[in-house]
Amino acid sequence: MEGVVVVTGGTGGVGRTVVRELARAGRTVLYTHRDGRPPLDLSAEPAAVRARVSGAPVDLTDPEGVQRLFDEAAARFGAVAGLVHLAGAFLAGRAVETGAGHWRHLWQANVDSAFLAARAALPHMLRLGRGRIVLVAARAALQPRAGLAAYGVAKGAVARLAAELAEETRGTGVTVNCLAPGAIDTEANRAARPGADRRLWVSPLAVARVILWLLSEEAAVVNGALLPLEGPEGALGPQREGEG
Ligand SMILES: NC(=O)c1ccc[n+]([C@@H]2O[C@H](COP(=O)([O-])OP(=O)(O)OC[C@H]3O[C@@H](n4cnc5c(N)ncnc54)[C@H](OP(=O)(O)O)[C@@H]3O)[C@@H](O)[C@H]2O)c1
Repeated sequence: MEGVVVVTGGTGGVGRTVVRELARAGRTVLYTHRDGRPPLDLSAEPAAVRARVSGAPVDLTDPEGVQRLFDEAAARFGAVAGLVHLAGAFLAGRAVETGAGHWRHLWQANVDSAFLAARAALPHMLRLGRGRIVLVAARAALQPRAGLAAYGVAKGAVARLAAELAEETRGTGVTVNCLAPGAIDTEANRAARPGADRRLWVSPLAVARVILWLLSEEAAVVNGALLPLEGPEGALGPQREGEG
């Protein structure tokens, strides 16, 4: 499939695996990282895989910077075939404990970034009559839970944004879908929750495989879906995560 897949949050716990799996599957990937942060280390990958991956610095809450990223990606790669929006932020807290800064941070990192990235990607996709957008919300978007007020509201808005965009793109060749994972088996979660029962956690590899499928031709008929993801994973499970 021609064109580039832009992966935001490509340096995150899930993003690293998603970028690698997309490139292994033959996709051309442009991942975003923040200025000053180290880029992805793909030195263990074959040269052909590494050659399909490049990075670009951007603050996803900066409207002009995000617009420039997608305009330059379209010019450089010929088309923006996909947007996988993994960038986001998490902070726990009940509403009464949530300061204005905490609220704003989660809203900007999760909702503003998704809106700005999708808004910048869509015109390039609509012009070509094809494209795939995958936003990432969370289980908290579907299910209120005391202690996740700002996060749950922000992820609920991300899911709603995907639904609105799916209506706007219906019949255009562009699809917009949204993932709602429960806990993901990342290094950060393992460190933060050492005693947790990980059987229901979903591996980054499983998330990557669902994303690959949503980006594929086979998923052209899937638009406006909100997909909960959770373990256990059976044969595709975390035991395969060590492969790379
Ligand atoms: N991990 C889980 O258990 C879980 C569960 C459900 C849903 N999710 C969602 O899945 C997605 C990926 O999760 P994760 O665990 O990989 O998260 P993560 O490790 O915290 O990574 C988040 C990524 O977003 C980037 N980012 C945040 N704000 C940004 C901004 N303003 N501009 C540019 N980049 C920005 C971060 O860049 P920096 O490295 O520069 O900060 C990082 O690459 C997130 O949307 C998360 O909310 C995660």
